[in-house]
Amino acid sequence: MKKKNEPVSYAGYLQLERVLSSQSPISRERGVSAHDEMLFIVIHQTYELWFKQILHELDSVLEMFREQYIDERNIGVAVSRLQRIIEIQKIMIDQVRILETMTPLDFLDFRHFLTPASGFQSFQFRALEIKLGLSPARRIKYSQQAYHTLFSEEEQTRLLEMEKAPSFFDLLENWLERTPFLVLTGFDFLKTYREAVEKMLADERETVQHNPLLPDEEKQSRLQMMQANEKHFQTIFSEAAHNQLIGEERRRLSYRATLAALFIHLYRDQPILHLPYRLLSAVVDIDELLSTWRYRHALMVLRMIGRKTGTGGSAGYSYLKQTAESHRVFADLFNLSTFLIPRSQLPALPPEIEENLGFYFSRSKK
Ligand code: HEM
Repeated sequence: MKKKNEPVSYAGYLQLERVLSSQSPISRERGVSAHDEMLFIVIHQTYELWFKQILHELDSVLEMFREQYIDERNIGVAVSRLQRIIEIQKIMIDQVRILETMTPLDFLDFRHFLTPASGFQSFQFRALEIKLGLSPARRIKYSQQAYHTLFSEEEQTRLLEMEKAPSFFDLLENWLERTPFLVLTGFDFLKTYREAVEKMLADERETVQHNPLLPDEEKQSRLQMMQANEKHFQTIFSEAAHNQLIGEERRRLSYRATLAALFIHLYRDQPILHLPYRLLSAVVDIDELLSTWRYRHALMVLRMIGRKTGTGGSAGYSYLKQTAESHRVFADLFNLSTFLIPRSQLPALPPEIEENLGFYFSRSKK
């Protein structure tokens, strides 16, 4: 143990001796040194460090959201930590370009030494997916095996425990469900919103029907497209329709949480809703950037190994492309834009409701 006032050195504090002696190219050990393997190792280690930092931030946000009451200051802190994750993700996506300075032929100099190791076995990446809320049922099957069977017994236990704990998706859903915005004395959000939407749709229909510049055929086709739009809106007016979509796995967020998120989006100009809105936007950014990383990684893999199978035993590019398409956690928050209406059509909030919102957020925890 260090003495209390022992001077700290740069190398000692950062444990550089350990960090910088942790790159051991396997090609060198096998006597056929491949120059680019150092880059390959350093890039992977850098990613693992960024994963560590992201998990550190995410864990602290999850901790805040486990509380029954979340103070406005804490939402501010959560938003800034999520913003930090977002900046790291941007770097993670950019970093792929450094790896692409290695050509496919250079990679082939040492790739055969790597089997059966693969990024697929990154424990921290799996932890990140689970903590965000990717459920086991939604995972793309990998060589017909459950993903966790590739980990040590101890790691499997930890991953399965993580799956049982509430994820960011669950906690955010609970928080949204608890928000008291939807029905306050003298104000029923769904009712006023529905009236505004129906008026907007009727106006749109009328504009098309009475447009002298549109030929009849064009009018018909536009009216049909509008019907499809109206059908989307019907699914937000009715809890039963929403729940049916949940049953078909086309939606996931509960009805009440969806309405609360919609309310926050529509009335985000209310000062009291700025932070909740920034929180939801940050969550959408994180989900989008993770998907972007997945696509970027998949494209890099296609460029590096073409259609070959991965060293971890998956189909390679096509497996990765599938996960990019379907491993999104907060798709429902993206889809909210379907239900937004222009500010000019938005019903004004009665003044007492604005006061009520202010009261809710500024009251102390006790
Ligand atoms: C030459 C560079 C790379 C190639 C050719 C490559 C290839 C692959 C392949 C083929 C897979 C699918 C699993 C398998 O069968 O192995 C995979 C998965 C994965 N790789 Fe890479 N990879 C490369 C670099 C990286 C880097 C730098 C990272 C950063 C940590 C990374 C992280 C991952 C992760 C997390 C997965 C699991 C993805 C999922 O299951 O959705 N890979 N990689």
